[in-house]
Amino acid sequence: MAVLVTGGAGYIGSHTCVELLNAGVDVVIVDNFYNCKKSSIDRIKALTSRDFKWYECDIRDHEGMDAIFKKEKIDSVIHFAGLKAVGESVQKPLEYFDNNVNGTLVLLDVMRNNGCKKIVFSSSATVYGMNNVSPLTEDMQVGGVTNPYGRTKFMIECILQDLYVSDKEWSICLLRYFNPIGAHKSGTMGEDPNGIPNNLMPYITQVAIGKREQLGVFGNDYDTHDGTGVRDYIHVVDLALGHVKAVEKVDGENGLFIYNLGTGKGYSVLDVVKAFEKASGQTIPYQIMPRRAGDIATCYSDPSKALNELGWKAERDIEEMCEDSWRWQSQNPNGYPD
Ligand code: NAD
Ligand code: UFG
Repeated sequence: MAVLVTGGAGYIGSHTCVELLNAGVDVVIVDNFYNCKKSSIDRIKALTSRDFKWYECDIRDHEGMDAIFKKEKIDSVIHFAGLKAVGESVQKPLEYFDNNVNGTLVLLDVMRNNGCKKIVFSSSATVYGMNNVSPLTEDMQVGGVTNPYGRTKFMIECILQDLYVSDKEWSICLLRYFNPIGAHKSGTMGEDPNGIPNNLMPYITQVAIGKREQLGVFGNDYDTHDGTGVRDYIHVVDLALGHVKAVEKVDGENGLFIYNLGTGKGYSVLDVVKAFEKASGQTIPYQIMPRRAGDIATCYSDPSKALNELGWKAERDIEEMCEDSWRWQSQNPNGYPD
């Protein structure tokens, strides 16, 4: 089985490629390297001792994508490629809709023209919006999203659902990720954000390594056990293993499947700071700041559908997530080499 992995050189994609290759699946990576370094490809090869094809191509390049499908025997696609910074999407909505939504339309058209109708899509818990109460289940109403990034995910979910209605030969899996953190156990692969990190864990690790002075905690007056925001952090390797199961699912039967990938447990910002300090032996200075626009108090999954239907559940706890994030950051203070 050969899986085309769009965005396969990025954070979640690279970890997923390692688990696919370890499971004996062949991969072909397509990435435009907008938000990653080519050296992540070498790390995937070194970790798995397996070779594979990779292409520098933008998913919006219809001809380029068609040529890849014509050259490689692709059975299914895992579609990670996309822009993902919530704040930036507010400043650059056209770029986000073009890259994420238009990019997906081009990909789907090329897939259909080449007779490949199996896709696993990287969606997000953000599609549950502001009003649903955690634990979040897949049957809850989605769409109350507050920023262009989240809207691209919601729109792509709608497009894929309409596609399935029009042609039942498709097999489509929407994976709604909660908050991926952590890194590969080897310390050779991890998250390598450009500039100032938007997300909590990369910010914490950069404080720990001395790149940033202190963490700003966005609000301590939420209705949570310590007033700071609660999220469902999931180890990126558990998330990657969820994709191996999802690919098997779309390979085995036609249908439209939706799964939360989370642990079902919520941790506050201060819980994560404490867990990280314990795992790393570093002190993380922090300051309470005003709330960040668009944030909600609490967001965590009910992951039981993925367990029942895919036989998947997250195994790695918050300590392991923190230890692995720290190993990656401390061994690669400047991220991947150029
Ligand atoms: P990432 O930026 O590390 O990976 C995305 C990859 O896609 C990058 O390597 C980038 O260069 C590539 N890419 C972007 N646009 C492309 C294009 N037009 N053509 C080809 N390649 C392109 O991000 P990630 O954290 O690994 O996220 C992967 C996916 O999961 C994204 O779709 C993201 O929206 C989604 N997601 C991420 C999170 C999270 O917290 N990390 C949460 C929910 C959903
Ligand atoms: N936080 C801080 N300080 C920081 C960064 C974050 O206090 O410097 C807090 C936030 O306010 C929030 C929590 O830490 O309470 C987690 O914030 P992240 O930015 O790490 O993650 P979000 O839950 O806001 O969003 C992430 C991804 C989205 C995705 C969503 C659900 O960034 O793309 O998870 O999957 F949609």
